[in-house]
Amino acid sequence: MKAIWYEENGGPEVLQYGELPDPDAGPDTVVVRVEYVSIEGGDLLNRSVTPPRKVPFIPGYQAAGTVEAVGAQVTKFAPGDRVVAFNWHGSHAEFFATPEKYVYPIADGLPTQQAAIIPVAFGTASDALFEYGRLQPGETVLVQGAAGGVGLAAVQLAAQAGARVIGTASGRQRLARIEPFGMDHGIDYRSEDIAQVCLELTGGKGVDIVLDMAGGHSVGTLLQAMRFRGRYVVIGASTGTLPSFGFFELIRRAATVHAVSFGGEMHLPRVHDLIASLSRRMARGMLQMPVERIFPLADAAAAHAFVANNHPFGRVLLKP
Ligand SMILES: NC(=O)c1ccc[n+]([C@@H]2O[C@H](COP(=O)([O-])OP(=O)(O)OC[C@H]3O[C@@H](n4cnc5c(N)ncnc54)[C@H](OP(=O)(O)O)[C@@H]3O)[C@@H](O)[C@H]2O)c1
Repeated sequence: MKAIWYEENGGPEVLQYGELPDPDAGPDTVVVRVEYVSIEGGDLLNRSVTPPRKVPFIPGYQAAGTVEAVGAQVTKFAPGDRVVAFNWHGSHAEFFATPEKYVYPIADGLPTQQAAIIPVAFGTASDALFEYGRLQPGETVLVQGAAGGVGLAAVQLAAQAGARVIGTASGRQRLARIEPFGMDHGIDYRSEDIAQVCLELTGGKGVDIVLDMAGGHSVGTLLQAMRFRGRYVVIGASTGTLPSFGFFELIRRAATVHAVSFGGEMHLPRVHDLIASLSRRMARGMLQMPVERIFPLADAAAAHAFVANNHPFGRVLLKP
């Protein structure tokens, strides 16, 4: 099959394209003929910093397409079914093999291209807000990194749950594009003081929940933006580094920190129900994710560079 792989960590230039053997179909495996690969923030982070477990290493968490083959123990899927699938690696290829527990049917009427985006972005955002963050209607949530995949999902889910949504992005133009998704107030993280604006908007109290996709050095500012007894949900490190917390800062605010590891829960029945529900909501037009650009699979290195450098709005896809 045609595939993308790398042998050592590095920038997009480590990605190679060519012919690799088709994936093995074990007894519990579903093999998906890939139509769309969704490039996830974590794909870039892994390529940069996580040593490949074996080489050649095919990157990629998520892709959607049609079931090509199933192992003898697979009960829920058959060849021809439209599915979106997750795995810890392997989506950047013509065929994506993954255990049945990581395969989700696509709702009737939902285009495969849109379905390819759902599980990681919308599932992570939902767990951050509700499973961990216990968001209540009327509360205020600050979404750090609101123009990315998880961020845009979080803005929509929080707004539709009756929360007030403050989001950050790099520049007013990007913020203006997020507003129709349900964001009440946008902060340009490059030029504005996030804590000061959040305190002004909440009458000095601070936001109830912070969702942090970016990590890095803004953790102090985000804690200042949060109310006493607020909840800080650690999701990602799109700056390249995860946030780190001083216990004194946490105690002073009686803060709770939640760490989300959505991939570690994607096999659970509750997550299968969640993804089915998100898929139906997207099929009904209630949830959306803009696709900034679609690259051929062969141009994955250019696609990764585009995601890293061009601030895409929403998602970038690959098409084998
Ligand atoms: N824990 C989990 O289970 C889990 C699940 C999914 C994803 N993640 C992680 O979450 C992160 C986001 O994923 P994604 O797929 O949404 O990525 P993405 O689509 O690439 O979006 C990343 C966002 O981060 C923003 N950002 C970058 N630097 C920033 C800074 N200094 N301050 C504020 N915002 C900044 C960018 O905003 P601008 O473009 O506007 O600059 C962009 O919107 C990744 O690190 C990913 O690995 C974790």
